[in-house]
Amino acid sequence: MSVQHFLTLLDLPRADVLGIVERAIELKRDPSLAGSQARKTLGLIFEKSSTRTRAAFEVAMTQMQGASLFLATSDSQLGRGEPISDTAQVLSRMVDCLAIRTFEHAKLEQFAAHSQVPIINALSDDFHPCQLLADMQTFIEHRGAISGRRVAWIGDGNNMCQSYINAAAVFDFELLIACPPEFEPKAELVSAGGERVSVLHDPKQAVKDVDLVVTDVWASMGQEAEQLKRQQAFADYEVTPDLMALANSDALFMHCLPAHRGEEVSAQVLDAPDSVVWDEAENRMHSQKALLETLLAH
Ligand code: CP
Ligand code: NVA
Repeated sequence: MSVQHFLTLLDLPRADVLGIVERAIELKRDPSLAGSQARKTLGLIFEKSSTRTRAAFEVAMTQMQGASLFLATSDSQLGRGEPISDTAQVLSRMVDCLAIRTFEHAKLEQFAAHSQVPIINALSDDFHPCQLLADMQTFIEHRGAISGRRVAWIGDGNNMCQSYINAAAVFDFELLIACPPEFEPKAELVSAGGERVSVLHDPKQAVKDVDLVVTDVWASMGQEAEQLKRQQAFADYEVTPDLMALANSDALFMHCLPAHRGEEVSAQVLDAPDSVVWDEAENRMHSQKALLETLLAH
């Protein structure tokens, strides 16, 4: 059987992605239902920092009696120039699955092309599909089905925004993106999204009548040198209580975290008593556990 990778939400059949989110909800209610992954090892190759993604994968494997092996590129041979194709061939003879966080999405594709075990995208410059599993789980837990709902993305057309474009197709919701003209998501993704996806430049217009408002940092990992320029370009894109007031009265706010209070989101929104960002972060673990069950079963 061919190896099943998870580089974007579109890599798995739609029914499998929906099933992973349903299973995550089930595993959160009753963790004892998780299948055993005894004697299985998940390799983690991270070229960028992480708190949630790494912790979620390691805890998920521990809870399923498996193991995880963290390899920072700075102290592995990858960091000294060993080709990805060689590393992928070697590691896939030892571990059962590899989660990789890197810069260029093409690096993940190269790993996948040479790996005999599933490759999971733990974040690339273009996509962050694991985060979307948790976001969808969180919405469904709080508000029921997301199919047919309206979602606003406010801010950068980055890896998270582009993952929301994929999610709109898989989970069947309308996505209204508000970003400065020079920070739009890739045009081919927007057009592949069809009528479900619109790109606007006015956050107030985007949040009108939506059920979910989502944002993310203005400068992603690797864009630190652009921080100042981006702060100026995105000054009108902060998610404030006034902006949230234009959304539906029961609209949720989500942020993948880490967040910058007073930049892309005001503290009053992020720290509101009913903020779901902490559930969203916790759900990384449940949904990645469900993802591992699926990929390791292939
Ligand atoms: N949201 C997210 O991926 O967080 P980390 O960078 O901490 O993994
Ligand atoms: N867009 C952010 C997400 C961090 C989880 C980044 O890539 O840094």
